[in-house]
Amino acid sequence: MKADSGKRVVIVGTQWGDEGKGKVTDYFAARADVVVRYQGGNNAGHTIVFGGKKYALQTTPSGIFNPQIINVIANGVVVNPVALQGELERLESQGITDYNLRISNRAAVVMPWHSVLDGAYEEMKGGKLIGTTKKGIGPAYADKYNRIGIRMGDLLDPEYFAERLHNVLQVKNMELQMLGLPTFEFDAVFEQYRALGERFRPCICDTSVLLNKAIEEGKKILFEGAQGVMLCIDHGTFPYVTSSSPTAASVPVNTGIAPRYVDNVLGVCKAYCTRVGEGPFPTELHDELAHYIRERGHEYCTVTGRPRRVGWLDVVALRHAARVSGVNYLSLMLFDVLSGLEKVCICTAYELDGQVIDYVPSTITELERCKPVLEELPGWVEDTTTCRSVEEMPEAAQRYIARIEELTGAEVAVVSVGPDREQTILRKDFF
Ligand code: IMP
Repeated sequence: MKADSGKRVVIVGTQWGDEGKGKVTDYFAARADVVVRYQGGNNAGHTIVFGGKKYALQTTPSGIFNPQIINVIANGVVVNPVALQGELERLESQGITDYNLRISNRAAVVMPWHSVLDGAYEEMKGGKLIGTTKKGIGPAYADKYNRIGIRMGDLLDPEYFAERLHNVLQVKNMELQMLGLPTFEFDAVFEQYRALGERFRPCICDTSVLLNKAIEEGKKILFEGAQGVMLCIDHGTFPYVTSSSPTAASVPVNTGIAPRYVDNVLGVCKAYCTRVGEGPFPTELHDELAHYIRERGHEYCTVTGRPRRVGWLDVVALRHAARVSGVNYLSLMLFDVLSGLEKVCICTAYELDGQVIDYVPSTITELERCKPVLEELPGWVEDTTTCRSVEEMPEAAQRYIARIEELTGAEVAVVSVGPDREQTILRKDFF
C-alpha cells in the first residue's frame, strides 16, 4: 500500500451531510492521539457501529470510545450542555465510561431560547422552510456573531455568568416577547447552567493551547467535520444550509491552530447523494430507484427520523466541495448499496438554461433550474460487502471508482462496503 505521512488530517463531508463521516472518523480515530470536532453542534448525528453495537454521537467527537484518545470539542462548535450531558449518559449506559473529553472555554453555548427561536423562525418562513433540525444551531451562531452569546468558560465564573446572563436575557426576552413566545426567568436559567458548568468544569479548558502542544509533540490529530460542504454557510446552497462552515479551511479559526498544520484533507462522499431538508438537489431521484437506494442505504435521518432525499452522485458538487476544502483524498461510502442496479449514473455537468456548465451556481434559483448531465455506466449485481480490496470487486464497480477519480482529480483512498469497521478498504495510508 502507498503511504503518505500526514499527521494532521481533516475529514470533511463533501455532500449535504450524512456521508458516513462518523464511521470514517472512528476508523482513523484508532490511529489518532486527538480527535477534534470543529463546527456545528448537536444537529449532527454520527452513527458508529462496532462489536455488533450501534452508537449515536451528536456533539461528542468520534474518538470517545478509546480512553487513550483526547476528544476535543473546539471553540467553533456550539455546545448544548443539556444535550451533551444526555449523550454522555447514553454512552455510559452502553458501557462507554472511560473517556477523555475536553471542551473549549471559548465554545458558544446553545441556550434554551435558541431551539425555541429556531422553530419560530422556521414557522415564520411560511412555505419556504429551511428544514432545520430545530436544535437552535442557527440562533446560537447568530448570537455568537452578534456578540450576545454565552461561552462555555463563562459558566465557570458565577459572577461573570450572572452579569452576562442579565444582559443576554434582556435582549432575548424582548425578542421572544415580540414573537409572542414565553420568556425565560433569570434564576432558573442561572441555576441550571451554573450547575452544568460545574458538571463540565473538569473538561473545560483552552483547547487551542492543548492542540498546539499536541502539534509540538508530534501527535496525530484528526479534525472531524460535521454536516457537509454543500451545507456550508458560505459555499453551500444558501440559504438552505447550516450556520457554520464544515470546510477544512474553517479548521484553523475554529480550533486555534495555524493553517500550515493541516496536512491532508479527506473528503467523505457517498457513492450516490442524499439530502435532508429543503433546498435544490439537481440529481434527485423520485421513482422506485430512489426507494431502492433509500431502503438499501437506510437513508433516514438519525436526528429527526425524516427520510433522506436520494440522487445520483453529483460530481459538479463534489468538485466544488473538493476545491473549496482542498480535498486531496476521497472516502467513498456506502458503496455496497449500489449493487443490483442495471446501470449507475454520475452527474458530470449541469445544463442551465440551455448551456452546459461545470460549476455550482451561487443562487438557488439558478441551481433549481440546473438539469443534471448524466454519464451512464454499467451496474453490477454482485454483493460487495465481503470485498476487502477494490481488485476483488466486479469490473464495473472498479470502473465506477476509477471514473470518480478521473472526474475529481482526487485519489479514492478509502472505500466503505458496509457499516462495520472491518468493511473498510484502505487503499492509501495517509494518516
Ligand atoms: P440546522 O443545522 O439545524 O440549522 O439545519 C440547516 C440544514 O442543515 C437543514 O437542511 C438540516 O437538515 C441540515 N443539517 C444539519 N445538520 C445536518 C447533519 O448532520 N446531516 C445532514 N443534514 C444536516
